[in-house]
Amino acid sequence: MGAVRDQDPLGERTAAVSSAKGHRLFAAVYDRLNAQAERPWLGSRRAGLVAQAGGEVLEIGAGTGANLRHYRDVTRVVAAEPDPAMRGRLARHLPRTGVPVEVSGASAEHLGFPDASFDTVVATLVLCSVADPDAALAEMRRVLRPDGRLLVLEHVRGEGRRARWQDRVTPLWRRVGAGCHPNRDTQAAVVRAGFRLEHEERFEPPRVPAIICPFVEIVARPERTGPKREDVS
Ligand SMILES: C[S@@+](CC[C@H](N)C(=O)[O-])C[C@H]1O[C@@H](n2cnc3c(N)ncnc32)[C@H](O)[C@@H]1O
Repeated sequence: MGAVRDQDPLGERTAAVSSAKGHRLFAAVYDRLNAQAERPWLGSRRAGLVAQAGGEVLEIGAGTGANLRHYRDVTRVVAAEPDPAMRGRLARHLPRTGVPVEVSGASAEHLGFPDASFDTVVATLVLCSVADPDAALAEMRRVLRPDGRLLVLEHVRGEGRRARWQDRVTPLWRRVGAGCHPNRDTQAAVVRAGFRLEHEERFEPPRVPAIICPFVEIVARPERTGPKREDVS
C-alpha cells in the first residue's frame, strides 16, 4: 500500500542534519552495511519489536525504512527522518509496505506533532545518533498517549574496560558514523525521561564489532508521574 504524504510540521527547522544534502554516502551504503546483520539477527529483532506497535505510530529517524515492511496491525505510520539523503532512500521502500505511511522531515528533538497524538513511538538505532537524547526522549514522551508504548532497539554503552574504550573512540566514531555514539547509556536516558520499562533485554548479537555492543531492546510506557527531573543533567 504505502500511501505517501510528505509532511514537515516545522519546515526548515526540522532539518537537524549536518548539511542541506544530508549524509549522502552514509545513506548510499547503509542498507548494504546492514545486510550482513539483517539476515542472521537484526531483521528478526526488528520484526519482533515492531510487531508490538499498534494504532497510530511515529517512527523516529526512520532511515532507509528498514522497519516499514514489519508493521502489521497499525492504523498509520509517520516515518520521521530529517536527513534528506536518507529520506530519498526511504521513499524507495514505500511501495513495499503494507500499511499507510506518511513521511516527515521532523527531527527527534523538535517533533512538532501535538501532545498525546501517537499510540506507539518506535526508535531503532537512532538514539545513538540524535544530537540531544534527553530532548529527543522528552519529545517522544510528549507525543505519546498516556497508555502508549515506546519501542527501542539500540546499541549501548558496555561496562568496565569496554565502556572506557567506547569513551575514547566516540569522538572519531561519531565523525565517520554520521553522528553515532557507541558510549550512550540509552536505557538510563529512557528512565530519566519518565518512562517505565516494561521489557528490557540486553544481548550481544553475532559478528557485530565489540565497539557497538551490547544491544538493548526496550518496551516502555510513560510514567504517570512524569520525568525524573532531579536526574536530568
Ligand atoms: C543508524 S541510522 C538508523 C536508521 C533506522 N532507524 C534503522 O533502524 O535502520 C540513524 C538514523 O537517525 C537519523 N537521525 C540522526 N539524528 C537525528 C535526529 N536528531 N532526529 C531524528 N533522526 C535523526 C539519521 O538521519 C539516520 O537515518
